[in-house]
Amino acid sequence: MRVEEVVGDFVALKRKGPRYLGLCPFHNEKTPSFNVSPNLGIFKCFGCGKAGDSITFLQEHEHLSYVEAIRWLAKRYQIELPEEEQTPEQALEQSERESLAVAQQWAMNWSIEQLWNTDEGKRIGLSYFHERGFTDATIKAFQLGYVPEQGNAFAIAAQANGFNPEILEKAGWIKRREDGTAWDFFAGRVTFPVFGLSGQPIAFGARTLKSDKKLPKYFNSPESVLYVKSRSLYGIYHAKKSIVEQQLCYLVEGYTDVISLHQAGITNVVASSGTSLTEDQVRLIKRYAPTVCILYDGDAAGMKASLRGIDLVLKEGLNVKVVTFPEGEDPDSFAKSHSSSEVNDHLTRSAQDFLVFKAGLLTQDVGDDPLKKAAAIHDIVESIALVPDQVLRSLYIQQCARLLTVNEQALISEMNKVLRRQYRKQVGGEQPVPEEVIPEAIAPPQPVIEDLGTTPQEANMLRMLVAYGHKRVMVPLESEDGGEAEEEEASLAELMFELLALDDIMFDDPLFRAIYLDYRHTSNMGEAVDTARYVQHEQEEWRQLAIGMLTEKHTLSPNWKERHKIHVKHESDQLYDALQEAVDILKERRVDVMVRDRQEQLKTADDESMMILLAEIKALNEVKWKLAKRTGRVVVG
Ligand code: GTP
Ligand code: MN
Repeated sequence: MRVEEVVGDFVALKRKGPRYLGLCPFHNEKTPSFNVSPNLGIFKCFGCGKAGDSITFLQEHEHLSYVEAIRWLAKRYQIELPEEEQTPEQALEQSERESLAVAQQWAMNWSIEQLWNTDEGKRIGLSYFHERGFTDATIKAFQLGYVPEQGNAFAIAAQANGFNPEILEKAGWIKRREDGTAWDFFAGRVTFPVFGLSGQPIAFGARTLKSDKKLPKYFNSPESVLYVKSRSLYGIYHAKKSIVEQQLCYLVEGYTDVISLHQAGITNVVASSGTSLTEDQVRLIKRYAPTVCILYDGDAAGMKASLRGIDLVLKEGLNVKVVTFPEGEDPDSFAKSHSSSEVNDHLTRSAQDFLVFKAGLLTQDVGDDPLKKAAAIHDIVESIALVPDQVLRSLYIQQCARLLTVNEQALISEMNKVLRRQYRKQVGGEQPVPEEVIPEAIAPPQPVIEDLGTTPQEANMLRMLVAYGHKRVMVPLESEDGGEAEEEEASLAELMFELLALDDIMFDDPLFRAIYLDYRHTSNMGEAVDTARYVQHEQEEWRQLAIGMLTEKHTLSPNWKERHKIHVKHESDQLYDALQEAVDILKERRVDVMVRDRQEQLKTADDESMMILLAEIKALNEVKWKLAKRTGRVVVG
């Protein structure tokens, strides 16, 4: 299948020379900067930087996993995928899932019918929802329903419609007595369907309308082959589009919080339904957004108890924020007693970073007690150590050192202890811990340019940007049919931004990254940027780096340049080639790092991920081979 066809299913594309052009589906834009190149089999957006092939497009746009994207393509293009032979148990499970899905759909429609079109439903169920402040539109959007008090109205209706009692029981709608007669589990309750990702009801929560404290307030469907609680999130179907748009997911406690916030216009909300988050739920959120914001009701004690649960979210590399509510309010009641804009204001204004919030909470009652203080430090460091991003980790260390009024170095060594222990726990035994596990402490401060990873290549790229970014260069446009070649004029910086965005490349080195982003941001704002901005920069660190780079003859030995395949002579005459080469070299180096990473993962991979890893390594090696061929050939100096 051709990339322009796959993308064309979702984006209106116009042919323009060898490329197709359209409005980017990943960000808001009025003039098209979303390119599809049939020659390269890729898409790229020069506005937001998103790029990839057909499969990544589906993964990003439709939020599919790699395997799901392949299945999607197979279905769309009628390609036969080798079906795994189903065992008899699998076949049985498949048919049970289908029966359950049909039963839940029917039950939902039935409960909606009861709510809107029966006297009892209207009098009891509907008026309850109205009293809670839900509008008719909201009640309909979430497909809320009602089950009569009678006790077996559902069981009778469902069986009259041919549903097997066993399936109805597995779906959670009926229970059976010893004599085989059935009664309605949800009798006299209002129902909240839980939807799967594609909007099909997979389970129900049913709330009692009685104030009898002895009865559980909610009954929930049991788990089944259709409904795995740890993998579903209440509200995800209604929220996913807006989670993607906002790049943020609010997390609340229950059904009514989700619904009330929705009604107040906050639609990127899901609930974990009582229990603390599971790994699968965190991964589900991560498919849509990089940040989760937890809306806490409750007192300090309750919050403290739930802090540990958040560690899982940190470990998955999500940014975590926290919003608290005034004493006695939860998101549901707050949304009801405030206007939409007040709710919105509260959510944006009082959002705090989770780790900062946690540090504050833990130090509240530490006082002068050194033991308590040590315990608090240890606790917060345990959480920081879970953050996978090293740069973020050191930012947190700095910030928490200030908050806890302790020496930063003390926090660092405490964290290194934790990291070492975590590492040992992972690999088992008492092996020495390799340096890369705890880079902050063991590795001595290295001269930037001699560092490992992609630092030399990044340094070279940044040097080109600072030295020549403002220079105009002519770019040959590839023409498909070998006809007349066109040329386009652009600044070297613009070209660099495009080329790096095309492969989603960002500088690993935090200082380089800061300067690069500053350059890109300033020039995107339409301001002219040149060498002087950095050579005369007010920040000492930036100035030093810029000056050092521009006089790089002193720091780069010829030997070093050879080793890192960096050619600097005469590049000012052939800037476009030099840039392409620098990008290729950086990519090549990155691919190396990625291959190494996957080889590392292979050691502990299960069968399914092993296949994926091997395929990735193979693809990466092909890329590397192509790049090496190019960089090996082009010698500028
Ligand atoms: P009110 O605030 O009293 O109107 O009730 P509510 O329906 O908003 O529920 P509540 O605020 O007490 O609880 C918040 C969430 O916790 C609910 O939406 C449910 O997800 C969950 N929950 C509450 N009670 C129960 C229960 O008895 N069983 C289960 N499984 N979950 C419950
Ligand atoms: Mn409530």
